[in-house]
Amino acid sequence: MEMKKKDATVPGSYPAVTDIDREQHIGMVREIFSTIPGRYDFLNHLLSMRRDVAWRRFAIRKMRFFNTFRLLDVATGTGDMAVEAARTYPEITVKGIDFVAEMLAPGKRKIAGRGLDERVELMQADATSLPFPDESFDAASIAFGIRNIPERLVALKEMRRILVPGGRAFILELNAPQNRLWRKVFAPYLIRVLPRVARIFTRNPAAYVYLVDSLLHFPPPPRFMALMQEAGFSELDHFSLTLGIASLYVGKK
Ligand SMILES: C[S@@+](CC[C@H](N)C(=O)[O-])C[C@H]1O[C@@H](n2cnc3c(N)ncnc32)[C@H](O)[C@@H]1O
Repeated sequence: MEMKKKDATVPGSYPAVTDIDREQHIGMVREIFSTIPGRYDFLNHLLSMRRDVAWRRFAIRKMRFFNTFRLLDVATGTGDMAVEAARTYPEITVKGIDFVAEMLAPGKRKIAGRGLDERVELMQADATSLPFPDESFDAASIAFGIRNIPERLVALKEMRRILVPGGRAFILELNAPQNRLWRKVFAPYLIRVLPRVARIFTRNPAAYVYLVDSLLHFPPPPRFMALMQEAGFSELDHFSLTLGIASLYVGKK
């Protein structure tokens, strides 16, 4: 893929998400996530000061299982949401899908290590074309994934399609902080500190420049909720987490 460099201080930088088309964005996301799984969990916890763990737990506590007792975790990556949900609700089974096999590999080891093979299965699939029948899950989740999917509306409609009536979708995503004080404190952390820390620990530090760029361009909560409504979700809820750094969106089918 031919891409112009954006940030000369980080080797191999990716172009800004605003400068590329949909196909280039998808190619870039596939490349990024196939190069970082080794240190992905460690850096997630370090860079978010373990808030990522608390945010997933917050979402999981809001889930309800009442019909199929099945959860689908979309863009599951290394499977943290899938594993934590299975540990929280011993009565459920969980499917996790991701289109990058390299991300799933550590997740599969995690599942085996925790003896969850019977209840949690990870498989390679695309969020925009889910390999499951209509109305086959009570809940669907996606954590820090929707930002990386250019066809967001299609992915949201797919999540809604596989839910039973009354089922809910749980979407966790980072925000560009909305309030001015946080912009002053958080923006320098994102732009200057985070890529430098990432550079120490990963062979692809440019991936973390992309992370910042993609989150700064992610729609603010009211616009994202409008998209959920367009996908057909009702009874929408929005929970602002850690002073607005992250959001949990919940929608009902
Ligand atoms: C930031 S990671 C999040 C992983 C995990 N959900 C978590 O909570 O840590 C984003 C994941 O989205 C996946 N992804 C992006 N676009 C996708 C798509 N169209 N279909 C399936 N997975 C996708 C990437 O491969 C990557 O593993």
